[in-house]
Amino acid sequence: ENYELGMIGLGVMGRNLLLNMADHGFKVAGYDKDAAKVEALGKEKVKGEVKAFSGLSEFINSLQKPRAVMLLVPAGKIVDSVIEEITPLLDKGDLIIDGGNSYFTDTNRRAESLKSKGLHFFGMGVSGGEEGARNGPSLMPGGDQEAYKVVKPIFEAIAAKVKGEPCVTYIGPGASGNFVKMVHNGIEYAIMQLIAETYEFMRKGLGLSGDQMHQIFKQWNEGRQQSFLVEITRDIFAYKEPGSTTLLLDLIKDEARSKGTGKWTSQVAMDLQLPITAIDTAVSMRDLSKYKSIRVTASSIYKDSKQKVDGDQQPFINALEESLYFSTIIAYAQGMHMLSQASKEFNYDLKLDEIALIWRGGCIIRSTFLEDIHQAFKKNRALPHMLLDSGIADKVNGAIAGTRKIVSTAVAAGISIPAHAASLSYFDAIRSEHMPSNMIQAQRDYFGAHTYERVDKEGVFHTPWTAK
Ligand code: 6PG
Repeated sequence: ENYELGMIGLGVMGRNLLLNMADHGFKVAGYDKDAAKVEALGKEKVKGEVKAFSGLSEFINSLQKPRAVMLLVPAGKIVDSVIEEITPLLDKGDLIIDGGNSYFTDTNRRAESLKSKGLHFFGMGVSGGEEGARNGPSLMPGGDQEAYKVVKPIFEAIAAKVKGEPCVTYIGPGASGNFVKMVHNGIEYAIMQLIAETYEFMRKGLGLSGDQMHQIFKQWNEGRQQSFLVEITRDIFAYKEPGSTTLLLDLIKDEARSKGTGKWTSQVAMDLQLPITAIDTAVSMRDLSKYKSIRVTASSIYKDSKQKVDGDQQPFINALEESLYFSTIIAYAQGMHMLSQASKEFNYDLKLDEIALIWRGGCIIRSTFLEDIHQAFKKNRALPHMLLDSGIADKVNGAIAGTRKIVSTAVAAGISIPAHAASLSYFDAIRSEHMPSNMIQAQRDYFGAHTYERVDKEGVFHTPWTAK
């Protein structure tokens, strides 16, 4: 037989991607251990052809050669066991694509071991959730470039389109696809936290209602702040518990969960010695939210802060728009900086302009602003930091005053908005010709003879600080 791609794992993502391929006229096959999922896929109506298999070797044999087998199974051990199961059934030159959020070093290990068997292995970031998978995701494939050519037409067809261009590009060698997706998720965590803090300021500081916040986010989403996350936030502010006038949001527990990709981004950034403070803060705040009983007790011990902000609401709403805009730019800038550092460290040869391009549509962090990021890196692919681009600088400069107003007001009122504050402080540090790090060096030398360098002469110095 001659199916053009086979999908293992017919959960919501795998199944939707497969249906998306079939809708674009590709002949595709699906396999799952779960008979119910196989049966459900068999009943789907699509333009092309999609066939569901419950036998693994039958499924593998139905694929045209070189075979392209895609996995959409939970990251971790399951990926290894599926690879182990299918490897004996494959031939040299076949390609395995892992579409899950796998940890990048796992992808390196798998690619190495499959290479010795003559098989290609791709780690491909897939973003856009359920809806994106069905109607157009953003895809980040990394691995052997020759092998990519086999599946390129399928992925270009199913990816989201922005101005006619597909939101997929060959990312680079090795695990670069998973790496770029991981950083995408780190940025996703940061923007979600920034929006959550904006909501916090609006409800506690300004006392705004759900309807008012809905209106504000609606308006923001029609301007420069247009993004998927702002758009869904707008809708969340309008969603009432069915049969009631209560906002569903008010009934949801304030303890955030996560699957680990944000944490990985922070951990890897630490290893790379590359600061991504907005992302780190977002990860920490999700973690802090889980200590509910400590928060409840502490709230009764430290309750003197008034939180409500005095004065007209509108100037604060305008300032919040600037603060969210500014801090979101910083979050993107930190993520892009991490990508450029990783590119050097791991020889990924990442093209940041193309990455920004394929993030403009389909993915969770898609926004109008990604066009600006794309332009900045297109002008200069070797731009050392996004904030050094003159076009970006104009936008940042125009939003600083509002950001300072929000951060200082929140600090004075006792409203916690740490990701906004972290973004602003990062900005103030990175625009400092002189940081106070000379003090750190002096202290290190004082207590540990760790030595220091001087501004006025070459060399490495140590001072016996306590000697008279
Ligand atoms: C995407 C998302 C997705 C991620 C979820 C859940 O790009 O479609 O990043 O891949 O798995 O957002 O992430 P958390 O459970 O860690 O919040």
